Amino acid sequence: MKKDFLSLIDFTQEELLAFVSRSAELKALRKKGTPHQPLKGKTLGMIFNKPSTRTRISFEVGMFDLGGHSLFLTADHLQLNRGESLKDSAKVLSRYLDGILIRTFDHQEVLELAEHADVPVINGLTDLNHPVQILADLLTIQEKINRIEGVKVAYIGDGNNVTYSWMMAASILDMDLRVASPPGHCLDKPGNLGPLGTVEFMEDPYEAVKSADVIYTDVWVSMGQEDETEAKKSALKNYQINKDLVDAAGKNVLVMHCLPAHREEEITSEVLDGPHSVVLDQAENRLHTQKAILEKLLSNGAG
Ligand code: CP
Ligand code: NVA
Repeated sequence: MKKDFLSLIDFTQEELLAFVSRSAELKALRKKGTPHQPLKGKTLGMIFNKPSTRTRISFEVGMFDLGGHSLFLTADHLQLNRGESLKDSAKVLSRYLDGILIRTFDHQEVLELAEHADVPVINGLTDLNHPVQILADLLTIQEKINRIEGVKVAYIGDGNNVTYSWMMAASILDMDLRVASPPGHCLDKPGNLGPLGTVEFMEDPYEAVKSADVIYTDVWVSMGQEDETEAKKSALKNYQINKDLVDAAGKNVLVMHCLPAHREEEITSEVLDGPHSVVLDQAENRLHTQKAILEKLLSNGAG
């Protein structure tokens, strides 16, 4: 049975923690320069219907590191764009590829692709969630705080795809997530959350960061929401991660952002480049955690 990586909610606490610890091992191997190539002869197709720097490059380098190969595919160069169905495309691509990564708008498209593909499908971001990002964030938290369970995360700003995946992670991993967003700017809590962690919604960012271990933010205007730019900027103007907000949290608080950042909008340069920020470690960890996903899903005997 093939295994996909579509949403964090599809995994148990044990499975997610196993991905994190395997990522740390793969990171150590790479730092030592020890080759590890279980995906020799395997090819990952990567369909991107939205731009990407980190996801595209880290998956491509990850496949290379693991001895495999990747193909960068854009919708406008596929017959998908001329009306070939997702079902037919999934069946055909499965005859060439060993795995498919897709970044797109509608989450349903990813589910449909996965339903019809005979090879593993990985979600590289949809309008609804961004599971591969949060896995890298978990490795970063483990490295910096030395634990995941019980960690208090304050997510401040637009309650978007990244927030939605955070809600899943917190509930599965027994973390404490507070989401501070203005009314009407947060996706509803997923209906099928696990029983462990707590997810609380509030309007006041200062209340959310009180005693937080991590302050997390993301852009105010996600890809595909460009028409809402002015409305979002005005609604979210009091939700910036700046020195005052960071000072209101503990002195060891980590500041996280999945990047790309819009400096002086959702976060100031002073904070993004400051001592609390771990954003470059998060970006680097995309490579290591995604290698753990690729190894698990694509190597022989995976499942
Ligand atoms: N964080 C993230 O997914 O970045 P990209 O959009 O550059 O892939
Ligand atoms: N919420 C952002 C994340 C980018 C990695 C977006 O969807 O554009």
